[in-house]
Amino acid sequence: MNFEGASRLQLTTEMLSLVLLILFQPGGGGTSPITCYNDQGEAADWFYLYKLPHVDENNDGQRYLLMDKGSEGWADGQGSVNDSAGALGRTVGQLYEQGKNGDIAYILYNDQRPKAQKKQLFGGPGNECGHTKGVVLLDKTQGYWLVHSTPHFPPVKDMGQFSYPESGVPNGQNFICVTYPLERFQIIGEQLQINQPSVYDCDVPESLASLVPALAAVCKKSRELLANGSFQDSRLASNRSVPLTSLGGTKFISFAKGRSFNNDLYHSWVAPSLKSNLLVQFWIRSTGILPSDCSLGWKVLDIRELAPGDRVTYDVAKDHSKWAVSTSGGGSAGAAGWVCVGDINRDKAEEKRGGGTVCLQDATVWKAYSTAAIQCEMCSRETGSCHTAVRET
Ligand SMILES: *[C@@H]1O[C@H](CO)[C@@H](O)[C@H](O)[C@H]1NC(C)=O
Ligand SMILES: *[C@@H]1O[C@H](CO)[C@@H](O)[C@H](O)[C@H]1NC(C)=O
Ligand SMILES: *[C@@H]1O[C@H](CO)[C@@H](O)[C@H](O)[C@H]1NC(C)=O
Repeated sequence: MNFEGASRLQLTTEMLSLVLLILFQPGGGGTSPITCYNDQGEAADWFYLYKLPHVDENNDGQRYLLMDKGSEGWADGQGSVNDSAGALGRTVGQLYEQGKNGDIAYILYNDQRPKAQKKQLFGGPGNECGHTKGVVLLDKTQGYWLVHSTPHFPPVKDMGQFSYPESGVPNGQNFICVTYPLERFQIIGEQLQINQPSVYDCDVPESLASLVPALAAVCKKSRELLANGSFQDSRLASNRSVPLTSLGGTKFISFAKGRSFNNDLYHSWVAPSLKSNLLVQFWIRSTGILPSDCSLGWKVLDIRELAPGDRVTYDVAKDHSKWAVSTSGGGSAGAAGWVCVGDINRDKAEEKRGGGTVCLQDATVWKAYSTAAIQCEMCSRETGSCHTAVRET
């Protein structure tokens, strides 16, 4: 019986989870390497997940769109984003499966920590740390880096199981999960050192620390922060972009900035670096938001209205995700456009916060995000169609 077969039987979520657990449990104590998973329970080299906002009865805030490597665009999520058998639940759920994979290393970071678990958390002062959210999970051979926008997510490891917080329901949220070979996690650790994340739970066991010393340092430093106070370190680079090739060979670019960068990520760095105009989705309800900016040769326009996957159209105030899409194929004619998914907004305060974005040049992913941008703020401050705005401003 496959996943679809099971859901046609209309099993309850709990029963479905149990069935899938039995079906996919590796036999005889064998190990399955840490990976991103898709909604079918298959290992995925990467996925993008667009959690839709709560806008009406049909869109209850727990529905999502999913696109993994090889798909032709957005597909409707199989159930609720809180479902432990879905792509997010299965991927993040590996964190809570004790002993199945031998030694694992993990880092959970979020500038908005899980609420109900304060006592188990450690780390430093929130507003000095990066405006960053993510999960790093790996074993001795491979793992994933999940970058997302959801407050108070995910639960600490000691909670024992995956769940999605109520606070992540009202607004749109984004997730990018990429599976990487072990070697890449040293680079990811270095990007996190620049980001200065607010780590609230982590462990990098001895057996892995020497293989990924930068990750071990991020974890160790976070444990010390509670006692010491500040995350400032003058030796840190203010920003760095690096290519990150997935396990399956897809070439991503990670942009990471720290506090001392003191500028808007998209306008000052990503747009010129990708040689692209960008339409940017971010949390417009933060204070001191930066207006659209056409001053550096590339147009960076704030999105005002969205329709991801054309499923539902809604105002940007209902969307907490942080992503950017180029208006064309990165400068050269015929090239696929860029999509960047990350964790930092366009606002004054966040110029002085760590954060970043993970970018990919891919025709399918570009189309999926490009068509989600409906209305944009032009540089004249008027609102208009995102797709004519670039030509007219
Ligand atoms: C997700 O499921 C857990 C139980 O597993 C529950 O406590 C939590 O409230 C649910 N979250 C949402 C958003 O419904
Ligand atoms: C915390 O303080 C100790 C003792 O002064 C020092 O060795 C350590 O490097 C400090 N850690 C951080 C993260 O500042
Ligand atoms: C840091 O950002 C600037 C733009 O502000 C860019 O020119 C420079 O190449 C970046 N540095 C690195 C190491 O990527």
